[in-house]
Amino acid sequence: MTKKIVVLPGDGIGPEIIAEALKVLDVVSTEMKLGLVFESGLIGGAAYDVYGTPFPQQTIDQVKAADAILLGAVGGPKWEGLDISVRPEKGLLGLRSTLGLFSNLRPAILYPQLADASTLKPEVVSGLDIMIVRELTGGIYFGQPRGVRVLENGEKQGFNTLVYTESEIRRIAHSAFRIAQKRNHKVCSVDKANVLECTELWRQVVTEVGKDYPDVALSHMYVDNAAMQLVRAPKQFDVLVTSNMFGDILSDAAAMLTGSIGMLPSASLDANNKGMYEPIHGSAPDIAGQGVANPLATILSAAMMLRYTFNEIEAADRIEAAVSGALDAGFRTADIYSEGTQKVGTAQMGDAVVAALKGSLHE
Ligand code: IPM
Ligand code: MG
Repeated sequence: MTKKIVVLPGDGIGPEIIAEALKVLDVVSTEMKLGLVFESGLIGGAAYDVYGTPFPQQTIDQVKAADAILLGAVGGPKWEGLDISVRPEKGLLGLRSTLGLFSNLRPAILYPQLADASTLKPEVVSGLDIMIVRELTGGIYFGQPRGVRVLENGEKQGFNTLVYTESEIRRIAHSAFRIAQKRNHKVCSVDKANVLECTELWRQVVTEVGKDYPDVALSHMYVDNAAMQLVRAPKQFDVLVTSNMFGDILSDAAAMLTGSIGMLPSASLDANNKGMYEPIHGSAPDIAGQGVANPLATILSAAMMLRYTFNEIEAADRIEAAVSGALDAGFRTADIYSEGTQKVGTAQMGDAVVAALKGSLHE
């Protein structure tokens, strides 16, 4: 059976990092006979430049017909002046919402080889392995009404709406608990229930859902405290579940615990585990086109795709081990470089992963 993957490189460093992930996927697909088939499409600024919209109908049709989607990154200064409705980021948000990809998994794992690359003390982060489960298709990102209006006194007022229905909270809570059952059986739900009614409901519903999972320990934390705890003692966490915007913010913070945001993959899943996979970092326009970006988050996103959508666990394990192998061999892109290691560019890092992978397949 073939597995159709739509590849959306997007903007900035997107095409460079995607090229490396494709090298890796090609090797596992051929050698392990996975039957992966690739088709490329446009999203973000790259789509806007051709179609005048960041998520054109062609791409909508492609992603609907796909088994999985691999995405690079969207956005850049070139499109910042555009109306918000056609900015590259809208393409990504449209993709998430069109496909109902409500469950966003953002694992933050510290590779032991990178303990020195984190800005935090090695003892605070060594052995770190947490999973942020971010609600991805609701909350303030999508709530209506939204906009900028002119008040009677002539002053402008910007407004957005934080909304969650019980069913939206329930399904993301179930995702988090199920993931925790496969990990260390702990869920910490992050909210601002002391101030926001919407997240008070969040806390109630997550608590109710938690009763179905007696083997998982549930705790709750206000988002401000969670931000502090993430940098103070991140290893206290196993699974963190939270709303769209809190998850956006906390996952960037968690990324830095691992040494570089260039290391963090993500999966965005619908109710049937169809998924879109992307690194959590952005398009990094400042380094785009220079061949220096770290492709590992994208390569690890490809591994997540094999694991979560295609259930190809061995292939996923092998890719993850190959990333570790490339790090063991001393290769580092600029973002994770430290003295005594070998600084390499994007393509060389991809090649190092491929070499480690081939080594493991031919053992
Ligand atoms: C992310 C990004 C996106 C988000 C942007 C690019 C729309 O920051 O995936 O975390 O805010 O969700
Ligand atoms: Mg973000």
